[in-house]
Amino acid sequence: MRSIKDADLKGKRVLLRVDFNVPTDEEGNIIDDSKMRAALPTIEYILNNGARLIVMSHLGRPKGKINEKYSLKKVAFHLGQMLDSKVIMAQDCIGPKVEEAVRRLQPGEILLLENVRFYPGEEKNDSEFSRQLASLAEIYVNDAFGTAHRAHASTAGVADYLPAYAGFLMEKEVEMLRKALEHPEKPRIAILGGAKVSDKIKLIDNLLTRVDVILIGGGMANTFLKAEGFEIGKSICENDLLEEARGLLKLAENRNVQILLPVDVVVTDEISENGLCDIKNVNNIPPDYIIADIGPETVKLFCQNISQARTIVWNGPLGIYEYKKFSSGTNHVAHAVAESNAVSVVGGGDLTAAIYKLGLENKITHVSTGGGATMEFLEGRILPGVAACEGKGVLQR
Ligand code: 3PG
Repeated sequence: MRSIKDADLKGKRVLLRVDFNVPTDEEGNIIDDSKMRAALPTIEYILNNGARLIVMSHLGRPKGKINEKYSLKKVAFHLGQMLDSKVIMAQDCIGPKVEEAVRRLQPGEILLLENVRFYPGEEKNDSEFSRQLASLAEIYVNDAFGTAHRAHASTAGVADYLPAYAGFLMEKEVEMLRKALEHPEKPRIAILGGAKVSDKIKLIDNLLTRVDVILIGGGMANTFLKAEGFEIGKSICENDLLEEARGLLKLAENRNVQILLPVDVVVTDEISENGLCDIKNVNNIPPDYIIADIGPETVKLFCQNISQARTIVWNGPLGIYEYKKFSSGTNHVAHAVAESNAVSVVGGGDLTAAIYKLGLENKITHVSTGGGATMEFLEGRILPGVAACEGKGVLQR
């Protein structure tokens, strides 16, 4: 990847792709601005180096159509407040009005383009749309690690037309994930949660060549428990993946990787704050109950392993985290990861939100801004947005 530090920015128009796809409430107010804060070092660096900055992002999934609900106006306002400077909101992301706004832009000023996903060409990685975006600037910087797994016009296509560089967030994310994945200090532990095994099959497959222990919680643990012959009551389970789960357990054994499943769980009769909350050994789950979290013995087991680890990668919460009464397992494990001396990398939207809520973000080596992107990186895939940062603007403008 080429670093933004290698670019001569002075007096140039810089087109910066960020991931400002922030969670919002019903009225479109920003609930969590951590993704925006993570991009500030790159934004400030570009401005301090005398460039004119054009910022682009997506918000939500408007499916190629203009939809006010997904406008970046509130993001522009919030960015202005964060930087304590004026952020000009463009009416569009390409076309004569935007070109005029770019012409008027002064060094040190920011123009935020409207949601790039208002155009169908964005997600299609359309070359004409990419070219039009690229024509606004002389240099392209990609700092949108959270969207790096998408081969879209603004994350990849633009790099065909402009010299491309990685921003600081992109560099840091890739460096930290590589550190955790490529030359990790032993013992190496992966902690996996979230609802589905199907989302994590490739990830487990890749991790089986890279870690010593995998701790599994969350809904995906149910499928493994059932595959091992345990009764799991009415808990969610991917019955069509039981064979696959058995195969992964066998593969782990052959590769000398320990997979630790819950030994006890929190069960409930309904998934709500009013549901009951009982602890059961995994041998003894009543037929009408639902597994909602890992139990205290499992927490102890997981935390013992975590305290000995030198490298930890964690993706996905270990219980139905949205409900306070089923969040205890994730919270305890989060504290154990924070207190360990290991290099720790945590990714995935729900989990990173949990880490911030617990105020543990500074005790984790790296809290990734990427959900899908982190997962695909850990699966061993080349992310189009990362590859784009090697780009040299090979096509003619
Ligand atoms: C995310 O929030 O994970 C990224 O912004 C990517 O969004 P997407 O899944 O809609 O492509």
